[in-house]
Amino acid sequence: MSSTLSSPLSPVVSLSNVHKSFGALKVLDGVSFDVGVGEVAAIIGQSGSGKSTALRCINALETIQQGTIQVCGHAIHDPALDRRALRRDVGIVFQSYNLFPHLTVEQNIMLAPTCVKALSKGEARDLAREVLSHVGLEAKADQYPEQLSGGQQQRVAIARSLAMRPKLMLFDEVTSALDPQLTGEVLKVMETLAREGMTMILVTHEMAFARKVASKVVYMHQGRVWETGTGAMLDDPQTPELRAFIGNGL
Ligand SMILES: Nc1ncnc2c1ncn2[C@@H]1O[C@H](COP(=O)(O)OP(=O)(O)OP(=O)(O)O)[C@@H](O)[C@H]1O
Ligand SMILES: [Mg+2]
Repeated sequence: MSSTLSSPLSPVVSLSNVHKSFGALKVLDGVSFDVGVGEVAAIIGQSGSGKSTALRCINALETIQQGTIQVCGHAIHDPALDRRALRRDVGIVFQSYNLFPHLTVEQNIMLAPTCVKALSKGEARDLAREVLSHVGLEAKADQYPEQLSGGQQQRVAIARSLAMRPKLMLFDEVTSALDPQLTGEVLKVMETLAREGMTMILVTHEMAFARKVASKVVYMHQGRVWETGTGAMLDDPQTPELRAFIGNGL
């Protein structure tokens, strides 16, 4: 007999009634959703609906005015939040790769583990090789970012995040600047991470990818979670707004 009441696994990310304004502009208007361990959540919605802001709030890059956000056990809304501890648990990748141009691929990846986690150079180099092989770029370790394609640079940016061994990965339109072939390479890496059980939240315009890989789709409209469900909801939208969005997006 179990000694405790069985409860569902506590979510890795939990937003509850989150409100965020920039001045008079209300951008998040009571946003609530949970992401469980190993889940892949895709946030979709038209430009300006608050997707990036939601992601930035989850990573404490923005402060919220109302509501609560829990991320890997950190209370993001708490003014006493330990940001350094949060950064160790959460990786974020943006549309722009933000690699240091004067450092090789390997040096870019070694930077945070040596500075933040105090790994030795040798340990960090082994780690860099490992995460680079994970994204299929072991052969590029000694190249400089400008010698790589956009898709390869983005995979290096993902590898750099993975080197911190995050519990949660956030992706904000990481393929938007890439042509279709390079987009495919990056999506493949993300799909592999999903299959390996990484908890991920991604803002994406790649509807086919969301449908296939996401266990949860969050459709945002006017700063609210307008509709949420599994990837299948994209085949059977319940609101005229989502129907119109999908109609435009495909
Ligand atoms: N730092 C800021 N200061 C003022 N307004 C902002 C700021 N960041 C975002 N906004 C505004 O908040 C709204 C939501 O922006 P957000 O970037 O979250 O949208 P989005 O859904 O990610 O859009 P897109 O698909 O274009 O990336 C927009 O109207 C935007 O102009
Ligand atoms: Mg955005």
